[in-house]
Amino acid sequence: MLPHDDVDYGTPKRASDQQVTLEIDGQAVTVPAGTSLMRAAIEAGVSVPKLCATDSLEPFGSCRLCLVEIEGRRGFPASCTTPAEAGMKVRTQSDKLQKLRHDVMELYISDHPLDCLTCAANGDCELQDMAGTVGLRNVRYGMEGKNHLGAAKDESNPYFTYDASKCIVCNRCVRACEETQGTFALTISGRGFDSRVSPGQDQAFMDSECVSCGACVQACPTGTLQDKSVVALGMPTKSVVTTCAYCGVGCGFKTEVKGEQVVRMTPWKDGQANDGHSCVKGRFAWGYATHKDRITKPMVRERITDPWREVSWDEAIAHAASEFKRIQARHGHDAVGGITSSRCTNEEAYLVQKLIRAAFGNNNVDTCARVCHSPTGYGLGQTFGTSAGTQTFKSVEQSDVIMVIGANPTDAHPVFASRMKKRLREGAKLIVVDPRRTDLVASPHVAADFHLQLRPGTNVALVTALAHVIVTEGLLDELFIAERCEDRSFRQWREFVARADNSPEATEAVTGVPAREVRGAARLYATGGNAAIYYGLGVTEHAQGSTMVMGIANLAMATGNVGREGVGVNPLRGQNNVQGSCDMGSFPHELPGYRHVSDSTVRAEFEAAWGVALSAEPGLRIPNMFDAALEGSFKGLYVQGEDIVQSDPNTQHVTEALSRLECLVVQDIFLNETAKYAHVFLPGSSFLEKDGTFTNAERRISRVRKVMKPLGGLADWEVTVKLAEALGYPMPYAHPSQVMDEIARLTPSFRGVSYAKLDKLGSVQWPCNEDTAEAGTPTMHVDGFVRGKGRFVITQYVATAEKVTRRFPLVLTTGRILSQYNVGAQTRRTDNNRWHDEDRLEIHPHDAEERGLREGDWVGITSRAGETVLRAVLSERMQPGVVYTTFHFPESGANVITTDSSDWATNCPEYKVTAVQVSKVAQPSEWQRGYEAFNRQQLDALERRGEAAAAEAALVMEK
Ligand code: SF4
Ligand code: SF4
Ligand code: SF4
Ligand code: FES
Repeated sequence: MLPHDDVDYGTPKRASDQQVTLEIDGQAVTVPAGTSLMRAAIEAGVSVPKLCATDSLEPFGSCRLCLVEIEGRRGFPASCTTPAEAGMKVRTQSDKLQKLRHDVMELYISDHPLDCLTCAANGDCELQDMAGTVGLRNVRYGMEGKNHLGAAKDESNPYFTYDASKCIVCNRCVRACEETQGTFALTISGRGFDSRVSPGQDQAFMDSECVSCGACVQACPTGTLQDKSVVALGMPTKSVVTTCAYCGVGCGFKTEVKGEQVVRMTPWKDGQANDGHSCVKGRFAWGYATHKDRITKPMVRERITDPWREVSWDEAIAHAASEFKRIQARHGHDAVGGITSSRCTNEEAYLVQKLIRAAFGNNNVDTCARVCHSPTGYGLGQTFGTSAGTQTFKSVEQSDVIMVIGANPTDAHPVFASRMKKRLREGAKLIVVDPRRTDLVASPHVAADFHLQLRPGTNVALVTALAHVIVTEGLLDELFIAERCEDRSFRQWREFVARADNSPEATEAVTGVPAREVRGAARLYATGGNAAIYYGLGVTEHAQGSTMVMGIANLAMATGNVGREGVGVNPLRGQNNVQGSCDMGSFPHELPGYRHVSDSTVRAEFEAAWGVALSAEPGLRIPNMFDAALEGSFKGLYVQGEDIVQSDPNTQHVTEALSRLECLVVQDIFLNETAKYAHVFLPGSSFLEKDGTFTNAERRISRVRKVMKPLGGLADWEVTVKLAEALGYPMPYAHPSQVMDEIARLTPSFRGVSYAKLDKLGSVQWPCNEDTAEAGTPTMHVDGFVRGKGRFVITQYVATAEKVTRRFPLVLTTGRILSQYNVGAQTRRTDNNRWHDEDRLEIHPHDAEERGLREGDWVGITSRAGETVLRAVLSERMQPGVVYTTFHFPESGANVITTDSSDWATNCPEYKVTAVQVSKVAQPSEWQRGYEAFNRQQLDALERRGEAAAAEAALVMEK
């Protein structure tokens, strides 16, 4: 059973070494010091009426419903704000208390619409419950007096409504926005009778600072803040715990359903990655799962210029298999390969790589981590010995100094950002290393102590300069280094970073960061207490991405900031299961568990289990597959849940390569950009339609649970199984749990993982095995590094080949925005478009002025690879010389202009540095107009065929 706890204890749990024992309604109760009387009572099974208190928020003490009597004390203190003390004797029930509570409720109800039976919150309203609890049957005060019953509704937010007539001004929403989310969008405006919740003076929610995280909706005890989906569909009847399918935070959710219809996604209170919080994507943007664009019938075509032909699953699978076999017979075993998906489950990624290795007989398998965090795998593997973050998200609550490098968590990892901001509000120091002034640099009640606003592409020079200060100013943790790290590599590194040419003063001209700032940040990181580094794609997506990851690891080892709570090196991974897809052996050189294909002992284990001989030769990486396709040796590709045309750099290169393939099989929920070059389309399934697991950025393995049947009839794992069978390699699994059992048998770090354990514990962090970590491993490298001794690596800065010139004088860098997700396939099909409906080019006003650009102008962006057109946004967040865009909309063609430049070790593309020129143009580019026309034509054709098929079916029915 899941550790599912729906009890609301009224106030947060307190941790203390000291325990206090008191008496509540005659019952002895022992709780940690600092625990409220309310929580002590509820933990002991004594219920206390409450309205303004909830256990996710600090107590506020406004509703006066939770009053108690304490022996020897006068009055009736609020149990939510009164801490338990040793020896107290507390009464929660008496005639006097009953009368007081009754009177309080009577006042609330006298100014509340009496429409419970038709209210969307009926059955899920604490006000309704409390009226029952205090036995309120009638109200003595009439509704004809002054009241709020006619107060206007705010329907501006696409996902929730604010009905002011129902508000009891309990302040829970305001506190949720401050304490949980950290946005401070809400206030209580007015006084006394006039007080009401407000998202700003005369502002609607949509025009305010609100980021639609849903925390206020979650906290509201009445129907005032209510999900529109609940208003439309009614209260759910059942809930299933699952994991968000968007970002690498991996929030736990309760999918609340009526039959197979999703009504609401509620953040799961016991979700260990999110502790009951959410962001606008996971909480509200799930409508894509049943969007009309979903393709639910398999399709084939001979040539990519032919129209699609809908066929049965059997025909589509048989066609794909025979094509792959034909290609291998004609062009050799290595002429085919596959790409696993970081959007799919661990079990599905495992099956795809197994199919490639066992059924295709080669190692031509890769994954989208190639274009995001492959340098993390390499860099942390080289230094620490394992390719993953070192901490839990919760660990940040113990950090004194937080360094965020090349990451924008408020947009890309919002729930973690809220946790981090809470710690910053408590006093932790913040260093931000980023070319842009991101929200984290200055947001309500948070300000970076240092913002090292470096030039894109100079990360390595900066990290080495930080190390220079630590070494030359005697800030090393000598004891940690002596005990935990290699002596030889440390000495070499120390000698290297101490060189004068690595000093902040010497590198200032390269990085653009004033030397005194670098020195200040280095001192703070090294001496400020527990120091943690969080980094993102602004570190990895560079020509020296792997070098930078190793530079970060060097810093952490040099200062002893590894192996305990509050410290560590933490990649903020992008996609929900990018960690998992890497763990599952999606790289061409590694079997599951990061074991090299050339290791004959490991290979023998898999050969025995899979019953085939495996190749010892690493296969092709994604960019090598494209090159091989262009040169004619690679002819067939199976792509599961990945839109390589939109997500990979240099689109022209990618599309040219794909159009040379003889068989491209795309498995996806939508007809994505890559499908335009496909010969077989296999309908994919959303996370709501299957069972499995995702592994988040903390190495946390969490269950994904099915709530509806796959719209196309088969879950993704079943499609891979069928394809393998058609290729002559049976994969007899009846359920994804059996796949996990096989993964556990063959992968040491997963040895102790099973669905039964996940159901019992909620989630576990790998390594999880019977030897050392039966319940998983929250913190890595506690007693020693996975590789034994930590290894320092020399980080020589090498300027990228992607240079600015007179022709291309600006640097384009890319990133994400909160409301959209990655290539936008899901979020673009939701109301999240209301926040961001096109990618735009952010440009510093100075650069704009030089080019005669004004806000909203169309601007042409030209790089060495291509050109596109976006609308301009003038922004002081940019530094002069640097422009920025997101890449969520295919028509914006952000990757039409990114180049082939990539990380030296892993081929991760250098998305963060593209030399460009920007100039005013009259309209979107020819490419974009062509794109729109092509898309319209494809969708129209499908729609026409759908209509024809429906008419035909109707005719058959009539007959
Ligand atoms: S909107 Fe809801 S949570 Fe906010 S004050 Fe009103 S009743 Fe309380
Ligand atoms: S949805 Fe989130 S950001 Fe918006 S007001 Fe509510 S708590 Fe604040
Ligand atoms: S933070 Fe990430 S995992 Fe959590 S709800 Fe948002 S998108 Fe989903
Ligand atoms: S619940 Fe304690 S005062 Fe409202």
